[in-house]
Amino acid sequence: MTQTVLEVADLTKSFGRASIIRGADLQVTAGERHALIGPNGAGKSTLFHLISGRIASDSGSIRFNGQEISAEPAHRIARLGLARSFQINNLFLNMSAFENIRLATLWSQGVRAHSLWRMASSLRNINDKADQVLESLHLMRVRNVLVGTLSYAEQRALEIGMAIAGDPRMVLLDEPTAGMSKAETERMLALIRSVTIGRSLLVIEHDMQMVFNLADRISVLVYGKVIATGTPQEVRSNPQVQEAYLGSALGDPK
Ligand SMILES: Nc1ncnc2c1ncn2[C@@H]1O[C@H](COP(=O)(O)OP(=O)(O)OP(=O)(O)O)[C@@H](O)[C@H]1O
Ligand SMILES: [Mg+2]
Repeated sequence: MTQTVLEVADLTKSFGRASIIRGADLQVTAGERHALIGPNGAGKSTLFHLISGRIASDSGSIRFNGQEISAEPAHRIARLGLARSFQINNLFLNMSAFENIRLATLWSQGVRAHSLWRMASSLRNINDKADQVLESLHLMRVRNVLVGTLSYAEQRALEIGMAIAGDPRMVLLDEPTAGMSKAETERMLALIRSVTIGRSLLVIEHDMQMVFNLADRISVLVYGKVIATGTPQEVRSNPQVQEAYLGSALGDPK
C-alpha cells in the first residue's frame, strides 16, 4: 500500500471575516510529485503557510508522517523533514551562494542548539554538504559569487537548494518557475525532478505545461477547497475543474 506522508483534513483558516481555507483536504504519498493548482486567490499560498507552520489554522488537522503538526511552530516542522521555499525571494543577497546553502544546512541540523565545539567539528561535513547541494543545482561556478548579483533563475534555483539542504522527506515549492522564460522553465523543471528524487514534492504552479509534465497527481484548490485530485488526465477531464478554469488553461496547455 502507498504510504501517505502528508494528510490535510478539513482545514480552515479565516483572515478577519474572510474565510480563505474552507475545509481543505489533501493527501500526498511517499515519493510522489503532487501539484497544487487553482485560480489566483484560491488560497494555495495560504495552505502552504498553514502546512509549514508559518501561520496557525482555525480548525482541522495536518498530519506529517502520521504526526499531528497543526499546532507545531515552523522551525519544528522543518526539523521533522518538511521543507519549503517561498513565492517571494528568501535569500541573503549580500552573501555568496555557498554561504547561503551552508546556512540552510546549519539550520537544518539545529546548529543553534549545538555547542561551539560540536559546531566546529561538524563544520567540515557541513561545508561538504553545501558543496554537494551546489553541485546538484549546477551552481558550482557561482559558488563564491554574491547572491544579489546572480540571475533571477539562478536565485530561484538557489532557493530550492535552501529547501533541500537539510535532506527533507518532503518539499513544498511555491511557484518555482514564476517569471521565467520558457528555456529557464525547462531547466528548472529538470532541476526539480532531479533534486526531488526519493522525496515527496508538493508544488504550486500556474504553468500548466510544467504541471502536466512534472506531476504524478494534481489537486485543484478553488475558494479554499480541494475540488478534485487525480492524475493529470483525470484532472484535465474533470468537468468541475474545467468549469473553474473556464475550459481554457487546462484544455490547451501552453
Ligand atoms: N495575511 C492575510 N490577511 C488577509 N488576507 C489574506 C492574508 N493572506 C492571504 N489573504 C487573502 O487570502 C486569499 C488567498 O490568498 P493566497 O495568497 O493564499 O492565494 P493563492 O491561491 O496563492 O493566489 P496566487 O495564485 O495569486 O498566488 C486572497 O484573497 C488574499 O488576499
Ligand atoms: Mg500564491
